[in-house]
Amino acid sequence: MVIIKTQDEIEKIRIASTLAAQVLEMIEPHVQAGITTEELDDMCLDYIENEQKALSACLGYHGYPKCTCISINEVVCHGIPSKHKLRNGDIVNIDVTVLKDGFHGDTSRMFIVGETSLRNKKLCQCAQQSLYEAIKVVRPGENLTTIGEVIQKIADKAGFSIVRDYCGHGIGRDFHEEPTVLHFKNKHSLILQKGMIFTIEPMINAGTHHCKVSKKDGWTVKTADKQPSAQYEHTILVTDDGAEVLTLRSDENFDRFIHH
Ligand code: MF3
Ligand code: CO
Ligand code: CO
Repeated sequence: MVIIKTQDEIEKIRIASTLAAQVLEMIEPHVQAGITTEELDDMCLDYIENEQKALSACLGYHGYPKCTCISINEVVCHGIPSKHKLRNGDIVNIDVTVLKDGFHGDTSRMFIVGETSLRNKKLCQCAQQSLYEAIKVVRPGENLTTIGEVIQKIADKAGFSIVRDYCGHGIGRDFHEEPTVLHFKNKHSLILQKGMIFTIEPMINAGTHHCKVSKKDGWTVKTADKQPSAQYEHTILVTDDGAEVLTLRSDENFDRFIHH
């Protein structure tokens, strides 16, 4: 069942989402060559717990050991922060989910460490553009399948592939709720209604869409061919006439409200 959120629930998810976005804003100047992903994660946890007086939804989620997911290059998602140091040319996703006052907000973005290849830049741009174009079609009466269609067209045009094993999700009191939001062309039909809240979080791969979960840690997801992957994620509210991007950051050149 897809939950239609009340005004009170929407306000709480808006707050949790704003906090999650602010964690990404806070961490940006620290994403530099030489820092370990664990140091970045520690800063995020300290900020969430001590400044925001909130919780990381990831820490302890099905046994997940850290505050954030930090996924570098061929890591698609769920990279566990560690002693590994960032290097010039890395493309890095940081995914933050904040729990505040019983409600969740979930967002991620790519960071480029120093200078990277044109192909890596194009991959990151494709992931962000596909998220933005997907947000633009969200409105009451639209079919959820349109989101996957839009992302598929953009990835196809760029010659990249779309991860099929992980998807967007409803969010609210639960971290992951219905609906499942597929990022590729699909027939998972659902008519969107005002008050629905879900994430859109396309993972775009330079090579094959196939992924492998680490047998060592049970979390880290890598591309099967070890080619790079990029992801952006926002938490989206379906409004009267379009959408509101609940996790919008100040560094984004994108409107919070989409009106149709
Ligand atoms: N934030 C991820 C998502 O977008 C989920 C991470 S779950 C964790 O849905 F346990 F790995 F943190
Ligand atoms: Co998510
Ligand atoms: Co996330």
